Amino acid sequence: MAKVAVIPGDGVGKEVIGEAVRVLEALNRARGLDLQLVPFDYGADRYLRDGVTLPDEQIAEFREAYDAILLGAIGDPRIPDNRHGREILLGLRFKLDLYVNLRPVTLYDARLCPLKGKEPKDVDFTVFRENTEGLYADVGGIFKKGTPDEIAVNEDVNTRKGVERIVRAAFEWAAAHGKQRVCMSDKANALRFAHDLWQRVFKEVGAEYPGIEKKHLYVDALAMKLIERPETFEVIVTCNLFGDILTDLGAALVGGLGISASANLNPDSTPMFEPVHGSAPDIAGKGVANPLAAMATSALLLDHLGHPKEAGILDRAVRAAVAAGQLTPDAGGDKKTRQVADFVLAEVEKAARA
Ligand code: NAD
Ligand code: IPM
Ligand code: MN
Repeated sequence: MAKVAVIPGDGVGKEVIGEAVRVLEALNRARGLDLQLVPFDYGADRYLRDGVTLPDEQIAEFREAYDAILLGAIGDPRIPDNRHGREILLGLRFKLDLYVNLRPVTLYDARLCPLKGKEPKDVDFTVFRENTEGLYADVGGIFKKGTPDEIAVNEDVNTRKGVERIVRAAFEWAAAHGKQRVCMSDKANALRFAHDLWQRVFKEVGAEYPGIEKKHLYVDALAMKLIERPETFEVIVTCNLFGDILTDLGAALVGGLGISASANLNPDSTPMFEPVHGSAPDIAGKGVANPLAAMATSALLLDHLGHPKEAGILDRAVRAAVAAGQLTPDAGGDKKTRQVADFVLAEVEKAARA
């Protein structure tokens, strides 16, 4: 039996995770997967009601008694400082030490790509975003707040161990998946201490993988090249903040945030799976959120739990929805969340019986 904690969270997170859970439960029944999906109500409503974000004991329980976490999105306009978002989302990433944020950028259909003449074979790379340090480390402070002399500092924290483990994870994954190229991106020309470490570690770790082509691009140049020639990238490894930005860019290459999936991993901890997108307050509650990112994320989850066949079934159902034009407005269609999810569910049920 595998126990999965399900945290729908806020806004469209609730809508898309509700649909993903229907599909996961259908696969669970049809294929006897023995998954136990356990819901948790952490998010804005709970925080506003009783002040709870995510207790440390809960994180400890996730670490010890759960096999995975499926999360929707955290963020609510009623909480403008995003305190609950940091404590829940970043709390899970940091306290479970999920140092790999793996974000595939996969074009399912040429129609979804805003670039001229690009086919699915041209946009197919995976970003390894460092997920536990960098500018997200929450080291810093504000001095003389609200005065003309105010000073605001966020330190960019890069440890040897932290950089080495994400760079190694990218190479290991590339080697295991038959990829030939790994590109490391930093801004060492300006950030001469923190990102010099990235340069040295990339050279050292890269030397252990002689069969893999190593390339370096400063992040500004990479942003340009990803638009000009996405087909030249297979695996990208980068720091926390750059990975955040580049994966929204990547999402735009494949049809938007409503389609992009991610996994937060550490082989020694409980992994967390979440769409790349946020709570989308601009469309929340309207029934038009794209559920495909949550579906693709659920496929990553199934694969991770040792169900590659069922992950394949779900992945093909997502591709079938795209091919059939079963798309919400963000991806150029006119369908509602429920219609797209029903289509995916029907495809999954058909394949699960076959
Ligand atoms: P967002 O991802 O919520 O939305 C950006 C744009 O993408 C919006 O136009 C939105 O309508 C669209 N979009 C996002 N998901 C979609 C979906 N499934 N279907 C259709 N359209 C979709 O980013 P934002 O507006 O910068 O942030 C909103 C809130 O979400 C903030 O509080 C932010 O901190 C939070 N956030 C949370 C996560 C997370 O929990 N993983 C990720 C990103 C942002
Ligand atoms: C993401 C989000 C988060 C991040 C925010 C909500 C803190 O943008 O998962 O990409 O920056 O990591
Ligand atoms: Mn982001």
